[in-house]
Amino acid sequence: SLPASVKLVEVGARDGLQNEAQPVSSADKIRLIDDLSIAGVGYVEVGSFVSPKWVPQMAGSQDVFAGIQRRAGTTYAALTPNLKGFELALQAGADEVAVFAAASEGFSQRNINCSIRESIQRFEPVMSAAAEAGVRVRGYVSCVLGCPYDGEIAASQVAGVARELHAMGCYEISLGDTIGTGTPGATRNLFETVAQHIPRDQLAGHFHDTYGQALANIYAGLLEGIQVFDSSVAGLGGCPYAKGATGNVATEDVLYLLNGLGIHTGIDLDALIHAGNRISTLLNRPSGSRVARARSSQ
Ligand code: HMG
Ligand code: MG
Repeated sequence: SLPASVKLVEVGARDGLQNEAQPVSSADKIRLIDDLSIAGVGYVEVGSFVSPKWVPQMAGSQDVFAGIQRRAGTTYAALTPNLKGFELALQAGADEVAVFAAASEGFSQRNINCSIRESIQRFEPVMSAAAEAGVRVRGYVSCVLGCPYDGEIAASQVAGVARELHAMGCYEISLGDTIGTGTPGATRNLFETVAQHIPRDQLAGHFHDTYGQALANIYAGLLEGIQVFDSSVAGLGGCPYAKGATGNVATEDVLYLLNGLGIHTGIDLDALIHAGNRISTLLNRPSGSRVARARSSQ
């Protein structure tokens, strides 16, 4: 049976904007996040504390944290690849952080310049510092349904990395189809495999719509008992280290799907569309959300 409610993790301001060629000012990021808060989004990734040489788009994350209006009940989170990033995130006032590993060696090297094993070791001090500060840590695994460098990825390989992140204290593991090649059959198989080791209520799905499969994959995830999904308003984003990765699945479209199933999220669709349209206009491009485009052409 389908869940009664779902948590949506809004990654547009981070996963989305990290991949924009044109710079987006901190003021515009702040307005986007405030728009999302007004729409009732319960979890927002504000930015990341990574090397500005690697991802210059996220360089102002400190200022974005300082400028947003925090809505009671919403969690404002940041990505942190190492202890330095964690310390900056803590200073900036992040409620939660996320560490990110990959299911493939090729992607791990290109994304964070180290092997999977080294990345796990690098997360150890982050986990200890976070525990000391009382900050929860989310864990990402990228390339769970295919890698742009290493090709096909076995579900057992994903399960291995997910288990390590879970064992070191990540409260939730988000499985990322970074290049969007996954299909519902592969998605079900993946969740079934990983759920042999990690409770389903501690797993999340992170789907990119590159091959048009994201909503179908989310539905497959719902049927597997998954209750947390990552999405990006207006379908912003991709990943700078995954060639051809178009946007994450659009939050508006996921919300429309969930509303149709009577699944509660706490998010107002009209206000969300407003948030997505405003950032799309700013980026001078049509929204990546089908729902938003359909609504604005009416
Ligand atoms: P490195 O070059 O191996 O690291 O990069 P380093 O420790 O040698 O540091 C190099 C320089 O970066 C030094 O500065 C450090 O101080 C600085 P320099 O001495 O040259 O002036 N530095 C930092 N600065 C600010 N914040 C930090 C930090 N750490 C070091 N935290 C590193 C290794 C991990 C730092 C680098 O590879 C990096 O930042 N990578 C981030 C890549 C990234 O952000 N990718 C996108 C997020 S993952 C994603 O989008 C996938 C996901 O959405 C799921 C999915 O879609 O599947 C999560
Ligand atoms: Mg992503």
